[in-house]
Amino acid sequence: MSAKIIDGKQVAARCREELKQQVAALRARGIIPGLAVILVGEDPASQVYVRNKHRACEELGIHSEQYTLPADTDRQTLLDLITELNGREEIDGILVQLPLPGHLDEKEILSAIDPAKDVDSFHPQNVGRLVIGDYFFAPCTPSGILTLIDSAGVDLTGKECVVIGRSNIVGKPMALMLLHRNATVTVCHSKTRELPSVTRRADVLISAVGKAGFVTADMVKPGAVVIDVGMNRNQAGKLCGDVDFESVSRVAGYLTPVPGGVGPMTITMLLRSTVLSAQNRRKKQ
Ligand code: GUN
Repeated sequence: MSAKIIDGKQVAARCREELKQQVAALRARGIIPGLAVILVGEDPASQVYVRNKHRACEELGIHSEQYTLPADTDRQTLLDLITELNGREEIDGILVQLPLPGHLDEKEILSAIDPAKDVDSFHPQNVGRLVIGDYFFAPCTPSGILTLIDSAGVDLTGKECVVIGRSNIVGKPMALMLLHRNATVTVCHSKTRELPSVTRRADVLISAVGKAGFVTADMVKPGAVVIDVGMNRNQAGKLCGDVDFESVSRVAGYLTPVPGGVGPMTITMLLRSTVLSAQNRRKKQ
């Protein structure tokens, strides 16, 4: 068997085209959606992500502001900036790029963002809403993954879905969103015993581990949908995912590549949330 490749670049381009039209409609009413991105420190991967977010906003006509703060920024300075952005009418979305330097308390910082502008959906109030299935913003990466699965025409109802990784950014929200789609969900992590026997049950296998070549063909059920969230560098310095693409593509039914799979979708979902926020917050204008 040779897996069908789910082309994230193509799906993202289609979504962005729709969003462009929605932004144009808002602009015609005098509303320019606005996103503020805060980066603390000089993590090279974060710098690339933030730059890509800014560029994507520009392409769509979304106003974007970038705040780059030194790695030793104190909590009060960061909290004051968030408070200022919370109060600015023309800012619809606020994103604090993670990870934060160790001296800053991630929970405290994320809790300071106005939940109505929390386009990442990391504020505890929005996390709670996600748990009960009453959510407005959905976390960007899981949201992008669902859009990719939908684009392949796969119905999740009753499917065995296995998520490897239990982070607050991907694994946990992903599991909840799959549950809301009526899938049967298992979350695996570093302490899971006999991982291959669990992953082999999966009709849909989602890997968010961060280790190149972690998912091998013997861990995959023939015909499964395999979603690779990994963003790793292999020994040659080449960007690659968690999945051993070469061997898994011979077993899986569908597979997302790295690069060009989940990555382009994450930013697209952020743009979507920003537009949604502008539509919601400025309804009366
Ligand atoms: N770092 C890695 N992924 C993300 C994300 O989706 N949002 C934020 N804010 N930081 C991240």
